[in-house]
Amino acid sequence: MKNASKPLFAVLFAFMSSAYAADDALVARGAYLARAGDCIACHSAPRGKPLAGGLPMMTPLGAIYTTNITPDPDTGIGRYTEEEFARALREGVAKDGHNLYPAMPYPSYAKINDEDMHALYAYFMHGVAPVKQANREADIKWPLNMRWPLKLWNAVFLEKGVYRSKAGQDVAWNRGAYLIQGLGHCGSCHTPRGIAFQEKGLDESSSAYLTGGLLDNWFASNLTGEHNTGLGRWSEQDVATFLKTGANAHASAFGSMTSVINNSTQALSDADVAAMARYLKSLPAAGGSGGAPYSYDQKATKVSLTRPAATDSGARVYTAYCMHCHGADGRGFAPMLAPLAGNPNVLEKDPSSLINVTLNGTDDLVLNGVPAPYPMPRYSPVLNDQQVADVLTFIRGAWNNNTPAVQAEDVAKMRKATQAAR
Ligand code: HEC
Ligand code: HEC
Ligand code: HEC
Repeated sequence: MKNASKPLFAVLFAFMSSAYAADDALVARGAYLARAGDCIACHSAPRGKPLAGGLPMMTPLGAIYTTNITPDPDTGIGRYTEEEFARALREGVAKDGHNLYPAMPYPSYAKINDEDMHALYAYFMHGVAPVKQANREADIKWPLNMRWPLKLWNAVFLEKGVYRSKAGQDVAWNRGAYLIQGLGHCGSCHTPRGIAFQEKGLDESSSAYLTGGLLDNWFASNLTGEHNTGLGRWSEQDVATFLKTGANAHASAFGSMTSVINNSTQALSDADVAAMARYLKSLPAAGGSGGAPYSYDQKATKVSLTRPAATDSGARVYTAYCMHCHGADGRGFAPMLAPLAGNPNVLEKDPSSLINVTLNGTDDLVLNGVPAPYPMPRYSPVLNDQQVADVLTFIRGAWNNNTPAVQAEDVAKMRKATQAAR
């Protein structure tokens, strides 16, 4: 039977290599989905190994630390079965049965479908290098460190069930909704939270969904169709360009959004980014402060900049420290330099992001491995609280921006909060 052995071997070999090829494709698919879920942003410490955990996250109860999700069997998730992995992601329950804090965005990941969960599991088991690094205990003291109340929290706030396509909407809209609500967990920053730290809505059926929220000293913008503070004046293409490159004609990424662009959205396919833009642009206007629709006007501002009255400290700070980049007309040089005139973040009632970016500047936006050439400088060593309040009050009043003044006390608070975090 000499002849038969060769075909048998060939068949076996073909079978095995196709099995391997299928696995490679599955692992690659999982790697892509892990990007869409931005697991690396939370599960890596600043100078630590990727996915080995250790990043501190502030909760109202104290700091907790993200865990090692590399496949190391002793310190990571190497002993997780696929079922246990899916339960951690969708229900926030670890292998040993303890409940995870909702700083892990499982209320969003609950929507991940089985096929994607399978690919993610394959990636975490076979595509990630194991790292031996023990997890760090949370800084929360007894009795607040007891985790059983999280079961009650889940009973009230966790909506179980994977994403279901909505009838009457096309494939792209549903794909966008799936990515934004699920893996993208955009609402964990962009949706306001209630008193129990729960997001006030997990999809477009809630009028609070994606209307903007304050987290970690950054105000994540309104992403509904609101004209002034939201995406009302952006086209679908503008939204897609922002997610791919971190900047467009209206605004540029800063604060906690920088890491979303750096680690996640820039790596997504054009079709997926277009689908996300499609879904966002379908959200009707909500939130915002209901002022008149913004339209650009330079006249009054030109006068106060060319002949700053001795009393207008804000205009003086602006001409001395900001104007050479942001321009006398407030229009910047998009997309390298964000316009301040009509910028949705400038028009937002909550000034936290403006104060934070002026005090602390921006982290580098890194596109395809190349850091942005002109980051926004930090002014905390140069300007005092009153000067920061004055210049932001000036910007919020200039070019028809028409948004309320910024108070020195709020600058002082932000300075303290962000210095402590450094
Ligand atoms: C916004 C931050 C954040 C993101 C994004 C995030 N996680 Fe987590 N994750 C956490 C935190 C915090 C914990 C620990 C919570 C605790 O200890 O209660 C955690 C815990 C886990 C656990 C439990 C591990 C253990 O300790 O046994 C798994 C599994 C996990 N995450 C997987 C993932 C995957 C996969 C992704 C991406 C799809 C992801 N996480 C994205 C914050 C995050
Ligand atoms: C870790 C918190 C965080 C997450 C998660 C997050 N964002 Fe943001 N996002 C912000 C902050 C803060 C801003 C305001 C600063 C800026 O404009 O970059 C912002 C701004 C934006 C803007 C610009 C809006 C404007 O008016 O300037 C868009 C568009 C956006 N985010 C889309 C998304 C999408 C889509 C997702 C999910 C894939 C997402 N974000 C996830 C924090 C976050
Ligand atoms: C060296 C040039 C430069 C100077 C000077 C400068 N900025 Fe910026 N600023 C930037 C850039 C670039 C961005 C866009 C974010 C980024 O890419 O880092 C930005 C962003 C901002 C934003 C966020 C708007 C958005 O949507 O991105 C605010 C608010 C801001 N600057 C205020 C100021 C104030 C106030 C001053 C003066 C005290 C100032 N800037 C001085 C370069 C500058």
